[in-house]
Amino acid sequence: MVKLDTIISLAKRRGFVFQSSEIYGGLNGCWDYGPLGVELLLNIKEAWWKAMTYRDDVEGVDASILMHPRTWEASGHVTQFSDPMIDNKTSKARHRADNLIEDFIDKLKKKNKTDKAAQIEARLAECREPVDFYNIIMDFEIPDPVSGTMDWTEVRNFNLMFKTFVGPVEDSSAVVYLRPESAQGIFVNFKNVLDTSRQKVPFGIAQIGKAFRNEINTKNFLFRTREFEQMEMQFFIKPGSEKDWFDYWKEQRWNWYIALGMKPEKLKWKIHDKLAHYANYAVDIEFEFPFGWGEIEGIHSRTNFDLSAHQEFSGKKMEYVDNVNNERYVPYVIETSGGVSRSFMAFLCNAFDEETVTDDNGKSEVRTVMRFSPKLAPVTVAVFPLVNKDGMPEKAHEIYKDLQRNFKTQYDTSGAIGRRYRRQDEIGTPFCVTIDGQTLEDGTVTVRERDSMKQERIPAQNLNVYLFDKMNQ
Ligand code: GAP
Repeated sequence: MVKLDTIISLAKRRGFVFQSSEIYGGLNGCWDYGPLGVELLLNIKEAWWKAMTYRDDVEGVDASILMHPRTWEASGHVTQFSDPMIDNKTSKARHRADNLIEDFIDKLKKKNKTDKAAQIEARLAECREPVDFYNIIMDFEIPDPVSGTMDWTEVRNFNLMFKTFVGPVEDSSAVVYLRPESAQGIFVNFKNVLDTSRQKVPFGIAQIGKAFRNEINTKNFLFRTREFEQMEMQFFIKPGSEKDWFDYWKEQRWNWYIALGMKPEKLKWKIHDKLAHYANYAVDIEFEFPFGWGEIEGIHSRTNFDLSAHQEFSGKKMEYVDNVNNERYVPYVIETSGGVSRSFMAFLCNAFDEETVTDDNGKSEVRTVMRFSPKLAPVTVAVFPLVNKDGMPEKAHEIYKDLQRNFKTQYDTSGAIGRRYRRQDEIGTPFCVTIDGQTLEDGTVTVRERDSMKQERIPAQNLNVYLFDKMNQ
């Protein structure tokens, strides 16, 4: 298992991810994507967009981040979107009470104190109110990991939505929220899309966009951040058909990760024991991160909770009229909700590999290789002249410019070929093209494939078609 620090340092060294506003010491829970990171991020989003909307029954939208504040009253976020928070008066450290308890349970398990761990787990499953968390912390004497003391405040609920104001007057009538999920931008546009797209139920609406949560504890690199992107789809269906559509979308979403190279043993389902009051089925896809299993996507059957709530709060009908069967109903919804940045981190961890390779002279070395699917790799192809003379750079540059029209391409002339391969392996470039003496004679080049390291010779003029074929395999 790769260490998280190894991933973070590779991500920084090679320009995938930087700390946000690093020159000022960074901003907790926020990250910036560098030149390679932004390519990987775009490729993930493009793969999702194509899989989810290049089909007959799903349309896309791009709703604004600031929405009418009533949206969040209707969705329940104003009253319910909160985490239980506790402060330690000695260290001033602030914790999510549930996480504090979970971490304590993990420590007990590591010490083989399984009975006590099971007792706390059972109590945690029953927690409803802040005081329930507080009682566990006190009853089991869970200390502050920073100061080691029991000098705790009460547990309070902390709403995770960021507030701001529209217009120049900062009073309560001007309050708006940065959306904590992109899903509500879909629900409020349900009628608009229905009326303009000629879709009929069942159909879906997909969106990729930023979401913001004032998380109490950000942790584990990109896993829990305050600003992140989601890729969400709400599929509107006839009430009663939710089990079939839930199973259908579960399969689609699992297969999407596998088709992009996710190792099946690194993924697992988590079935929710505690369902939200409106949900009738809910599962998560979890990935095995270096720190343990964590959710990367949720698939939820949300009944007609959201549309009905918006109907009530806005006074606008959210019904679907089925003229063929002469029925009208507020559609049920199956939601697929994935995090772009969490998937990004999962794809980084999944791709990381180190292997010992031996060159033609019998010399061994360890190569770091990011085994990204060619569809996701930030750079698709690198072009090298074998030597910097005899017309090879000129020919190589010409080929590079030709490939750059279609693919993210790098050109590298520095160092021995082996070193250039290693640099590309470390960023996961699936194909390297070398221009040598024979290229000048017969117009062929060698293409070296990243994982097998096998080389084949093909005419330079076939390179574009060759790469398109490989990308679509
Ligand atoms: N509309 C449903 C919804 O938002 P969620 O489980 O809260 O459900 C969905 O979020 C996905 O968004 C998660 O599976 C995760 O990938 C991502 N996500 C949620 N909170 C996040 C955070 N603080 N940082 C990064 N990604 C997050």
